[in-house]
Amino acid sequence: MKEQLENIRREAMDAISACGDVKELDALRVKYLGKKGELTAILKSMGGLSAEERPIIGQLANSVRQTLDEAISDKGDKLKTAALDAKLAAEKVDVTLPGKTRPLGSRHPLNIVLDELKEIFRGMGYTVVDGPEVEETKYVFDMLNTDEGHPARDEQDTFYITDTILLRTQTSSVQIREMLAHKPPIAIISPGRVYRSDAVDATHSPIFHQCEGLVIDKKITFGDLKGTLEIFAKRLYGEDIKLRFRPHHFPYTEPSAEVDLQCFKCHGAGCPLCKGEGWIEMLGSGLVHPQVLINCGIDPEEYSGFAFGIGLERIAMMRYNIDDMRLLYENDIRFLSQFR
Ligand code: DAH
Repeated sequence: MKEQLENIRREAMDAISACGDVKELDALRVKYLGKKGELTAILKSMGGLSAEERPIIGQLANSVRQTLDEAISDKGDKLKTAALDAKLAAEKVDVTLPGKTRPLGSRHPLNIVLDELKEIFRGMGYTVVDGPEVEETKYVFDMLNTDEGHPARDEQDTFYITDTILLRTQTSSVQIREMLAHKPPIAIISPGRVYRSDAVDATHSPIFHQCEGLVIDKKITFGDLKGTLEIFAKRLYGEDIKLRFRPHHFPYTEPSAEVDLQCFKCHGAGCPLCKGEGWIEMLGSGLVHPQVLINCGIDPEEYSGFAFGIGLERIAMMRYNIDDMRLLYENDIRFLSQFR
């Protein structure tokens, strides 16, 4: 029996060391150590042994069992490690391979300057409000002191939907809506699309963008308007920028001014960018006309205010040195991807 056990040990150890995969190893475990395995069979037959032999054989059988058990478990570990190594080698990631690029979009230059503009005015306590693009003539014209017969109302210039409904030609309509909806103090800006029947060229488009501004409070003066626009221009273009207030006429402001920026390219000397002027027009502005306040139920003896309307395209074009407005609307990726 001793010999039998030694044979089993040798045979099993050979088989285990030669074994190449986990399934085969499992079969070996069953064959030698399983309930119906060879070693178990011997242990079961030990009842026939003499009292002297039994402990010796029992000890040997146990040691064979232990040896095989350990060998199988060792081999199992080795096989698992080898399998994992093989798997990792097969799945190795080549970090030098080029990645999959996902193209990132960019913001439109008009949105970039608009975001900046909002940021600047929010910083001065303004609220950003929205107004309808399809608007009533009373808000776009009548209540802004712009009577029938004013050239701005001309059918040649304006997209009418009915006699009293049109695509707004200016964001100034939002001034009226705001004054009707809220009591002063008021400090708002309102950016948005406006529409005019203009032929497309390098500086005109039937759809463009404005940003309206309105402040109504007690004791508002032209000085407040100047200071506000100066801060705005400096934040946008840098401390060195110079502003020029040029007298003008708007029906809804008195006095009115157009505001020019000194050309930041030639610093006033005159160059192609400013068409030799040295100055570039940026916006219209003025102190809100008393009649407009009255139209909105605000007492001009108690309150005064200023308003302005900024052309967003112009700001973007000056900012980025864009010489043709059409580029802003053509959605050519070669153009748009230059702005991040
Ligand atoms: N609405 C004017 C335009 O479209 C711009 C403007 C001028 C707006 C003076 C104002 C203002 O609020 O006070 O050209």
